[in-house]
Amino acid sequence: MRLFVAFNLPEHDRDEIHDCCAPLRERDLPLRWIEPENYHVTLKFLGQVESDRVVGIEEALASASDSPPFDVTLSGFGAFPTIRRPRVLWLGVDAAPALRSLKQDLEWKLSDLDFERDGRTFHPHLTLARARPDGSAGAFRGLDETVASMDFECDVAVASLDLMRSVQTAEGPRYSVLSSIPLGAAD
Ligand code: 2AM
Repeated sequence: MRLFVAFNLPEHDRDEIHDCCAPLRERDLPLRWIEPENYHVTLKFLGQVESDRVVGIEEALASASDSPPFDVTLSGFGAFPTIRRPRVLWLGVDAAPALRSLKQDLEWKLSDLDFERDGRTFHPHLTLARARPDGSAGAFRGLDETVASMDFECDVAVASLDLMRSVQTAEGPRYSVLSSIPLGAAD
């Protein structure tokens, strides 16, 4: 099964984010929009994993979750690799020290289970849309000005680490929470 570790957001925050993107969705951009119930912030992508490894992963998450819950700020829209030719359109997540330290802890604990450590700069984000393959180079003209004019900010509590499963469907990936490990609950 395809797994990743993420934190999820309360429904009212997901709805606010979705509403804020309405002006973008109304434009005829070659983007596939993520449904708000699928919004999440990935902390570690694990890829294809045999089911007998799940218990070990859950134990690693439990040992990385000893620090207390904390808040992060979601704000600022951007794209990978560039806003002029986006592959992924995202809402930024402020990489607060508590989030960085949680990410680092996760990397260490999961590397003990032979998951390769992520050497790239941590750029936490919430993916809002992915480019459709039929988009032309000019299709995103003006997107930079539009996102720069969009004003959105919300604080979200990171209170648990969620082990997520991703299943491919005809409508795109569907995500489900396999297990949720509360932060700061370890004895
Ligand atoms: P994305 O939102 O930036 O596309 C489930 O697929 C989650 O894991 C998504 O949030 C996705 O990030 C992330 N993901 C998918 N493939 C990945 C990879 N090869 N490396 C890192 N993250 C990946």
